[in-house]
Amino acid sequence: MTQASSTAPVGIIGGTGLTTLSGLTIAGESSVSTPWGEPSAPLVEGRLGEQSVIFLSRHGNPHRIPPHQVNYRANILALYEAGVRTVVGVNAVGGIHPDMGPAHVVVPDQIIDYTWGRGSTFFEGDLDSVTHIDFTFPYDAGARQALIDAARRESVPFSDFGVYGATQGPRLETAAEIRRMERDGCDLVGMTGMPEAALAAELGMRYVCLGLVVNWAAGKSDHIITMEEIEEAIEQGMSGVKTILASSMAQ
Ligand code: HPA
Repeated sequence: MTQASSTAPVGIIGGTGLTTLSGLTIAGESSVSTPWGEPSAPLVEGRLGEQSVIFLSRHGNPHRIPPHQVNYRANILALYEAGVRTVVGVNAVGGIHPDMGPAHVVVPDQIIDYTWGRGSTFFEGDLDSVTHIDFTFPYDAGARQALIDAARRESVPFSDFGVYGATQGPRLETAAEIRRMERDGCDLVGMTGMPEAALAAELGMRYVCLGLVVNWAAGKSDHIITMEEIEEAIEQGMSGVKTILASSMAQ
């Protein structure tokens, strides 16, 4: 991955369908704690090819923490304290854009945040001053390009654009909510993209999202959303995600 020196570990936060990272040569595991609490799971240190990587399962391992209860601050700070300066967030998402159907891979370029009540900043509490970070471009351009180049090199079908709409969950959306999100300009809907991206930005880390569409968003197909279709899309699409990750690290 460009911009990450070969010695600095790249952080990979795995979401639904990516609780462990096969292909990762595991060197060790550490259970850490931060002033914001404990991350979702132990940090798994290893190598993906030549690149040193720290993998963190966003929902825990096994998958047990719902999106609105993930301790995003602890996750990001734990990675930062482990030396990570570039983070790839892997997210399962629903597809709104007509080109973004199940098993499609997306490297989004923008975010709209609809979440509420989450611990979404490091800049609160007993402060001496108020901090407003710039968040015009939520995803790092160099890290995005590395994923895009890898997807092209490996011939994995993907989209190199997309607005990620982050919803609160854990329920899925109504058809009307998705229509509203579409009017807002969202191409994808997911529950974990925020505040993760903003917290990484607050610490000055490079952050990028690698999205896997696992279902058509509510009202975008002729049926309701089932866990079976989500599992099938994960089964179909996650190998492309892993291929892109491995290839981007090899550069
Ligand atoms: N909505 C919100 N989050 C999601 C979806 C969805 O349809 N699919 C996967 N994560």
